[in-house]
Amino acid sequence: MKKNLNSGQLMWQRAIKAIPGGNGLLSKRPDRYAPDIWPSYFSKSSGVEVIDLDGNKFIDMAQMGIGSAILGYSNPELINAITEMLKDGVNCTLNAPEEVLLAEKLLDLNPFAGGVRFARSGGEAMAIAIRMARAHSGRDKVIFSGYHGWCDWYLATNLNKNDGLSEHLIPGLDTKGVPAGLINTAIPFTYNDIENFETTIKNNPDAGVICLEGARYDFPSKEFLEAVSQLAKKYNMVIVSDEITSGWRMTDGGVYKINGFNPDIVVYAKAMGGGFAISAIVGTEEVMNTSQDTFMSSTMWTERVGFTAALTTINILTREKVWEHLIDMGDRIGKGWLKLSEKHGIDISVTDFKPLITMKFGYKERNQALATLFIQEMLQRGYLAATSVYLSYAHNKKIIDEYLIAVDECFEILSHSIANNTEMELLDSRVRSDSFNRITP
Ligand SMILES: Cc1ncc(COP(=O)(O)O)c(C=O)c1O
Repeated sequence: MKKNLNSGQLMWQRAIKAIPGGNGLLSKRPDRYAPDIWPSYFSKSSGVEVIDLDGNKFIDMAQMGIGSAILGYSNPELINAITEMLKDGVNCTLNAPEEVLLAEKLLDLNPFAGGVRFARSGGEAMAIAIRMARAHSGRDKVIFSGYHGWCDWYLATNLNKNDGLSEHLIPGLDTKGVPAGLINTAIPFTYNDIENFETTIKNNPDAGVICLEGARYDFPSKEFLEAVSQLAKKYNMVIVSDEITSGWRMTDGGVYKINGFNPDIVVYAKAMGGGFAISAIVGTEEVMNTSQDTFMSSTMWTERVGFTAALTTINILTREKVWEHLIDMGDRIGKGWLKLSEKHGIDISVTDFKPLITMKFGYKERNQALATLFIQEMLQRGYLAATSVYLSYAHNKKIIDEYLIAVDECFEILSHSIANNTEMELLDSRVRSDSFNRITP
């Protein structure tokens, strides 16, 4: 039975006329999924259920608020805490005490740290972290691996080499508007590749900052992290660990904790607020002291909702050890995918990082069409699906086992299309894309 997805599509057509690019986040654009049939907009969300503009109900086995809704949508304890707080006021001439409480909580959970600053989004927090790290090292150049947001310091990579960021999550990022003077200030290296990292440092001994993700698809090896620590020490470089995606999903804080890694700055965002906007830059006493010498100030960094949301979310995460549940559920999905792929003779690989479990098809230039077909068929069965799943506390075994029954049916369709080369014929939509593309009405 085909769902009526018209209202979401129509709203997206209005969006791309009024908002360049259609919205403020690449990962919520329909062209990332199945562009012509994706419901695109929600009217309500609760637990793992999402209601679109036409009243259709879907189970979210995709992005869960792009990783922000770690407790599930509209967690009652979180909503209650926010609702109670709203009655007492949100923004005031005086400071919100929750800012202090949250800073103290983060210092407790990150014993290496001597100070915390707050912002709202991840990219913004990374820009703050890089400013601090540059100020502390006294050097401009950053060597990095991974995705770190939209800001100039990061996009400057592509001033050197148009496709410098292609290996780091998002290909096709243009440098229009990024000052040409930033050329050669952000140099990428390959994650988990000691040789590549050492060569990058050797070629850029004047760098002052090393920036990397806590984990993305795979975990960093112990040897790689040792190499990072050793060379950072040798060259007196500041290490920034970006835990915006990995944070709170493996431990009561960052993945750096299980790796025995000692960064100078750790950045959290996304999941820390349970879906509300809050990010934190947590640093050593030395680095944070420098932050007093560089001007960073913004009205909405002191607003109360984010602090209350993070305090409540962290309380639930640590009380319930939510990350253990996320790892368990991710493992169940990963094993389920592999079993079903064997059953249907489909070539997939599944990555290590279970709380954001990801499968990759092994069909090269056909991968995107196959992924689109998978998303299309899962939509027909009532699922928002993708090739990765951000697990939340609201996912459970029953939901996952039912999801895997739908995956079984979809893999059968995929298996036929792989054998007969028919995926393009079966699609009711254009093929999805991972790139940043210009969207035209
Ligand atoms: C590792 C990492 N860093 C930075 C960001 C940017 O965060 P935001 O989208 O909140 O600006 C993201 C977002 O996906 C991320 O995954």
